[in-house]
Amino acid sequence: MANQTVAVVGTGVIGNGWIARMLASGYDVVATDPAEGAEGRMRHAVEQSWAYVEELGLADGASKDRLTFAGSIEEAVRDADFIQENVPEREDLKQMVLKEIDQYAKPDALIGSSTSGIMPTELQENLQHPERIVVAHPFHPVYILPLVEVVGGKQTTKENIANAKNFYEGMGMSVLHVRNEIEGHIADRLIEAIWRESLHIVNEGIATTEEVDKAFTHGAGMRYAQYGPFLTFHLAGGEGGMRHMLKQFGPALKKPWTKLEAPELTDELYEKVVEGCEQQSNGMTMSELDQNRNEFLVKLYELVQEYWPQEKNKTQV
Ligand SMILES: NC(=O)c1ccc[n+]([C@@H]2O[C@H](COP(=O)([O-])OP(=O)(O)OC[C@H]3O[C@@H](n4cnc5c(N)ncnc54)[C@H](O)[C@@H]3O)[C@@H](O)[C@H]2O)c1
Repeated sequence: MANQTVAVVGTGVIGNGWIARMLASGYDVVATDPAEGAEGRMRHAVEQSWAYVEELGLADGASKDRLTFAGSIEEAVRDADFIQENVPEREDLKQMVLKEIDQYAKPDALIGSSTSGIMPTELQENLQHPERIVVAHPFHPVYILPLVEVVGGKQTTKENIANAKNFYEGMGMSVLHVRNEIEGHIADRLIEAIWRESLHIVNEGIATTEEVDKAFTHGAGMRYAQYGPFLTFHLAGGEGGMRHMLKQFGPALKKPWTKLEAPELTDELYEKVVEGCEQQSNGMTMSELDQNRNEFLVKLYELVQEYWPQEKNKTQV
């Protein structure tokens, strides 16, 4: 593992998160991004995240000094065994960048795309080696949150999906193999539903951004860290579990509780949401909010590992 080289293309929020996780896992990392000042921002981001990856545990030989910045995609990917693409969420841009990666990478190097919603079949069109493309969709901050959704396209081989799974699991991640391609994969389909409802509530003046956040964080949000929507509602049915729960709340599914289609993103809604978030930040800078979130998540991660039912079952066997 540790002798392998990984390349990261696009060093924004997600690219930098991958870099920290990959370095912590003992890889040599070569990264590239054409933006002015990208290298400085990348090194600062790795510096900021290092205390947290250290707390979660470093692989033997892991070091933040094993990071190189390359001046082009060709230079970044030519020796890499695994390449993670993290450029902005635009299909045409991703296709262009993936084509360049495919052209210069070793033919057997695996390529993962961090796309939040584009299907891998769309991304592997017109490549010389489409069989090595997977979507590998992580969650921010990538160096703490374990989930990665791995999705193969029509031309991805089973072997490459298995190789990708091994690669991400080798970095301590929890792989969810999304067997059926859909836009938004699984997790973003769920997150998007909550996001659209939140925007409707603010748009209609029912509540502020702060009130919507509270409605989530002080209730359902806490329990979702342990159990997902299904087990949570299984418990909401009391002794009768899901059988009782579906009988009791089933009829409510027909009521107009949700809107699901997104509201129009008007200037007014834009301002309301941005101002609301800035006020809620209570004078904390983005960096302070980020560190505060990281401290919370590291503790939460340790807690949920202890309490996840799957983990509990493993220790009981
Ligand atoms: N932000 C999130 O929470 C999140 C979560 C999961 C997945 N994603 C996905 O990750 C990807 C990146 O998102 P982000 O939030 O990091 O965006 P970002 O805007 O923070 O970063 C994108 C980076 O790509 C660089 N870039 C642009 N063109 C490039 C090129 N031709 N070659 C190399 N680099 C280039 C930009 O300079 C920028 O640094 C998107 O596909 C997004 O959907 C984002």
